[in-house]
Amino acid sequence: MLYDWPLNREFLKFRKSFYLMANHAEPIDVVVTGAAGQIAYSLLYQIAAGTIFGPQQPINLRLLDIPPMLKVLDGVVMELEDLALPLLREVLPTAEPAKAFNNVAAAFLVGAMPRKEGMERKDLLAANVEIFKVQGEALDKYARKDVKVLVVGNPANTNAIICSHYAPSIPKENFTAMTRLDQNRAQATLAAKLNVQVDKIKNVIIWGNHSSTQYPDAAHATVTLSSGVKPVPSEINDDEWLNNIFVSTIQKRGAAVIAARKMSSAMSAAKAAGDHMRDWWFGTKPGEWVSMGVVSDGSYGISKDVVFSFPVIIKDKHYEIVQNLPISDFAKSKLDITSKELEEERAEANNVLKK
Ligand code: NAI
Repeated sequence: MLYDWPLNREFLKFRKSFYLMANHAEPIDVVVTGAAGQIAYSLLYQIAAGTIFGPQQPINLRLLDIPPMLKVLDGVVMELEDLALPLLREVLPTAEPAKAFNNVAAAFLVGAMPRKEGMERKDLLAANVEIFKVQGEALDKYARKDVKVLVVGNPANTNAIICSHYAPSIPKENFTAMTRLDQNRAQATLAAKLNVQVDKIKNVIIWGNHSSTQYPDAAHATVTLSSGVKPVPSEINDDEWLNNIFVSTIQKRGAAVIAARKMSSAMSAAKAAGDHMRDWWFGTKPGEWVSMGVVSDGSYGISKDVVFSFPVIIKDKHYEIVQNLPISDFAKSKLDITSKELEEERAEANNVLKK
């Protein structure tokens, strides 16, 4: 395995023609930031094993972390080697964004400044604005123009909008934030309530921010039973549970995991990141949608220029927001709360950037 290699355009052109001549799929370059952290530890295996970009797609991995973590990253590289996975071609551990983002086709932005005791929300936002500004600039300069960016590091939605702002040469559609873990949690909770296998539940939606203001919405979800495909709300037949217990369970699930594990969700977050990117790469199944934080185009009355989680369908690597779903007054009030929070976060981030 090579740890370093020339990164200039000539070399990339040569590499492409080499793979074309040999009739092999050309490797794609994929970056994971926060690569020495706990989510990356589960995510890297999925990428290298082919469960995200497919079993025919060789991968060159770029692992970005901060200088004090480079020693830990060496251990991660050793483990990646020891996986002995044939799709994994090259691994580059680095603390330099210019190297990490060069020519990348997909970017998992997992690394972020964690909230420390006594830290105000706006201090957390300020620290992250700086990180995502630098990474946006590096994407703009070095990444492929069709790079697909998934922001996992919190506050994920606002980090994604900042990152996009500093990468003006890359379409805004290419910047997304992860709410798939919330969707997976919601799907699993409904399946348990109806006592069915998790894959029998479809089209539950996460609206808004990946925070405790998100709105997990089962109003359009379906369940496949032996008697046919039925709406989840009528099968549960308990609006009190759906509007209160279900919503707050999903909103607080992250905190419940932290309380039990003393660390935040990692295995499930990595799985969700894989689900998000795989669906973006290969498309959603017919009749199904998934939730992704995307730059708002004003759909459902949400203000533009925030990254808001909507239901989307994906085809040929492009997503579209599902339109015209009926929104009840209750749902509207929930959407208002989470969109207001995102507007506030955006304003705070803009204040930091102006300083
Ligand atoms: P962790 O603390 O184990 O790892 C974070 C890594 O990021 C560390 O190795 C750190 O050195 C690195 N890092 C910090 N600044 C960096 C920079 N400027 N460039 C590159 N790397 C940098 O954290 P963990 O558990 O892996 O979580 C990562 C992030 O994901 C956190 O912000 C967490 O809140 C968020 N998260 C998001 C979820 C979602 O659903 N959107 C779910 C769970 C976690």
